[in-house]
Amino acid sequence: MRNRILFVCLGNICRSPTAEGVLAAIASSEFPGLPLYVDSAGTANYHVGEPPDRRTIAAARRRGYELAALRARQIAPEDFSGFDFVLAMDRANLDELARLAPPEVRAHVGLFLEFVRGLESDEVPDPYYGATEDFERVLDLCEAGARALLRRLSARP
Ligand code: 4NP
Repeated sequence: MRNRILFVCLGNICRSPTAEGVLAAIASSEFPGLPLYVDSAGTANYHVGEPPDRRTIAAARRRGYELAALRARQIAPEDFSGFDFVLAMDRANLDELARLAPPEVRAHVGLFLEFVRGLESDEVPDPYYGATEDFERVLDLCEAGARALLRRLSARP
């Protein structure tokens, strides 16, 4: 198995659980048979053990993604070797990952949206202090990012 993916944001209650749920759902409907393990974590520990934000759950549910069973956790040093891809939602998360990484890193550590062409920005903006449309934007970007990443993984020989 070489398709182990960990999505990372700050709190693990808005963006990275959305990316996790969206990628898992799109993989099973559009890329059946692709071996995949997907998880998500936060760089911070503020919300450890909590389900996703209720606005995140509601926005995802409107598009048919069910996120309510997920629980937040903080990234751990072993994640940098236990996953093949550790993908941050924004540059602040990526900087924090560089700070938290142990000396030995086996994963590719980068931005989730680096696989998508033609976007204005390669970051998924934090919706936490935002409005409904900001949660919708997270979903739009996660759908685009998930399809781009899955296409890339399924095309590898
Ligand atoms: P996330 O959003 O990083 O996408 O899960 C946030 C969640 C919580 C906080 C900030 C961002 N917070 O400050 O508690």
